[in-house]
Amino acid sequence: MNGLLHEKVVVITGAGSGVGLAASLLFAEHGAKVVAADIDLSSVEQTAAQIRAAGGESVAVRCDVTDGQSVDAAVAAAVESFGRLDVMYNNAGITTKPGQGFMETPDKDLEVLNAVNVGGVIHGCQSAIRQFDLQGGGGCIVITASVAGLIGFGGAVYGSTKGAVTSLVRTLALEIAGKGIRINSVCPAAMPTNFGGGVLKGSDAARQHTASMHPLGRVIEPRECASAALFLASDLASNITGVNLPVDGGMAAGKQLR
Ligand SMILES: NC(=O)c1ccc[n+]([C@@H]2O[C@H](COP(=O)([O-])OP(=O)(O)OC[C@H]3O[C@@H](n4cnc5c(N)ncnc54)[C@H](O)[C@@H]3O)[C@@H](O)[C@H]2O)c1
Repeated sequence: MNGLLHEKVVVITGAGSGVGLAASLLFAEHGAKVVAADIDLSSVEQTAAQIRAAGGESVAVRCDVTDGQSVDAAVAAAVESFGRLDVMYNNAGITTKPGQGFMETPDKDLEVLNAVNVGGVIHGCQSAIRQFDLQGGGGCIVITASVAGLIGFGGAVYGSTKGAVTSLVRTLALEIAGKGIRINSVCPAAMPTNFGGGVLKGSDAARQHTASMHPLGRVIEPRECASAALFLASDLASNITGVNLPVDGGMAAGKQLR
């Protein structure tokens, strides 16, 4: 099948659920060979099986993004299974516990949040750049950041990790541009996934309340976020790097005076 990622080899972290699952299926529909990586192996085994059942190519690997060697192993799985790496999609992320305020965040939770949301993205970039260098240049990195990395929205501790990521996108883009490597992020607003205990998935009232905060009047579907990531991963975005792209129903545009 010809598609936007025809024959491209992609590693997607957090591929067992939400955006990572949606992106795995969408990228595969567009011809990508997908290494579905997640800390929860059984979830990505299902993702990979779904892709293969639809006629695509995919392998599943257990990967904890807080461990650099584990991320290296996911990239090695791409090389072993499909011969190379074209796109690294650093998507895995977590948030603080529901209802846990800024002042109530214990050090342990702070460490874990930063280890996954910031350290995990850095590991993904390092592993990918190492492999891209071995391949002789080029390559593409996409990250799921958040609208909370662009404007104040939601928990401040979580927002601080996503602010770090949007900053990383700009600074690292400049550092690796000379190698022909592109790096961009998608910055979604609220999505009904398992994120944050799955509050938006589980409650219509919470979903409607949150939808009303978005100018377009609805929450973001994981596939809509994955579609923006697909664009950034594809050659359609061949001269785009260092960009943090909102997928937020207009939220980052500001507030209307009324
Ligand atoms: N859902 C939202 O409202 C929302 C909003 C903005 C940004 N985001 C971001 O979107 C991304 C995807 O989240 P989602 O909404 O799909 O959530 P999700 O909970 O549905 O999926 C996250 C996946 O990441 C995996 N994961 C968690 N820790 C990991 C680790 N250490 N190593 C590897 N995998 C790990 C989980 O097992 C899960 O499969 C995250 O980066 C999140 O911060 C989510």
